[in-house]
Amino acid sequence: VCDTLQIASHKGNYAVSFDAAALKNIGGTRLEGCHFIIDETVSRLYADDLGSVLSAHSVLLVEATETSKCLDRFSGYVEHLVSKNVRRGHGLVAIGGGIVQDITCFLAATLLRGLVWYYYPTTLLSQADSCIGSKSSINVGNTKNILGTFTPPSGVSITTRVLRTLTVDDVRSGIGEMLKVHAIEGPKAFDRIAEDYSALTRDEQVLVHYIHESLRIKKFYIEMDEFDKGPRNVLNYGHTFGHALESATGYGVPHGIAVTIGMDMANFIAVRLNRTTRSHYERMRGVLKENAKSFLGVEIPPDAFFTALLKDKKHMDKTLKLVLPDANGVIGVALCDDDARFREACAEYITSERHR
Ligand SMILES: NC(=O)c1ccc[n+]([C@@H]2O[C@H](COP(=O)([O-])OP(=O)(O)OC[C@H]3O[C@@H](n4cnc5c(N)ncnc54)[C@H](O)[C@@H]3O)[C@@H](O)[C@H]2O)c1
Ligand SMILES: [Zn+2]
Repeated sequence: VCDTLQIASHKGNYAVSFDAAALKNIGGTRLEGCHFIIDETVSRLYADDLGSVLSAHSVLLVEATETSKCLDRFSGYVEHLVSKNVRRGHGLVAIGGGIVQDITCFLAATLLRGLVWYYYPTTLLSQADSCIGSKSSINVGNTKNILGTFTPPSGVSITTRVLRTLTVDDVRSGIGEMLKVHAIEGPKAFDRIAEDYSALTRDEQVLVHYIHESLRIKKFYIEMDEFDKGPRNVLNYGHTFGHALESATGYGVPHGIAVTIGMDMANFIAVRLNRTTRSHYERMRGVLKENAKSFLGVEIPPDAFFTALLKDKKHMDKTLKLVLPDANGVIGVALCDDDARFREACAEYITSERHR
């Protein structure tokens, strides 16, 4: 059992609580004025726990795919909610991973100019990372996460019991984001979670401890900079390269695993640009490779990779905004020229170094 975290946001504080019976308890609360948006798979796997929730007045089951969070699907969601008499003062309740979170959060931001929403995250990535931070992002056509809002939930309730049914890849995807925030906390914190890596997948108590730690670390940055204007940018560690990798492989690599490879690549580039030392790169490499092991051999077409890399919305003109380790292994924002040295280092990583 973990302490509740209080997160401050522009809409007030919200609590993140840990409760093994979280799903069971929803049925015991007042369901009037609640509109449930539930991952179809979760509704099937946890039908017993959800009980009366599944026969509540307003239930929308969604398939957790990227297409489900495309803009053109939203007219259907809105029509459903309108048919269930949605009103100001009602609340949306999301039960699922990041896809269901993004759909619900975006609807809560816009429907009737704003509704409250509550979140029961069911994937490791959503429990340890995305459930706090206020962001919603949805897709338009083939452009991922291009529309979005900052809309914090009114409460988050976590039960790690549901993680037992996740695939190995979905667990590793969540662990990727957990490794990321620990790297940002500092070399000691990273080495600690790296040491406990195999226990994370064997021992639920160890996992719960690190989920709580990950949220505690993220809390510091999102409270300081909820709208991502400066300090929060470090949370993008591994993401510039990770997003390019996701895009260049046609989203064949789960997000948190792409971020894992993205961190290893960022470290390598930092060595090549003389920002960090070889020893920090090697220190982190073992656990990053272990976490990404099923995807290390994936084909990355360099042209598609560079095209995606330069599209990153955070860059300015010829200067790239990267998040890299420094000589002490401290992760920070670094401006870097898109020059021959940078391109060669990227190409070297993609073609040979990542397989070493
Ligand atoms: N808004 C944010 O801050 C934010 C942050 C990170 C990622 N995201 C978005 O989140 C999405 C990825 O989310 P995700 O990785 O949490 O997973 P997901 O929602 O894509 O779900 C992954 C798979 O796990 C299944 N699943 C969910 N819970 C389960 C459970 N308890 N047992 C068994 N299966 C279960 C789903 O049905 C799906 O097949 C992406 O679209 C990404 O862009 C958003
Ligand atoms: Zn991420």
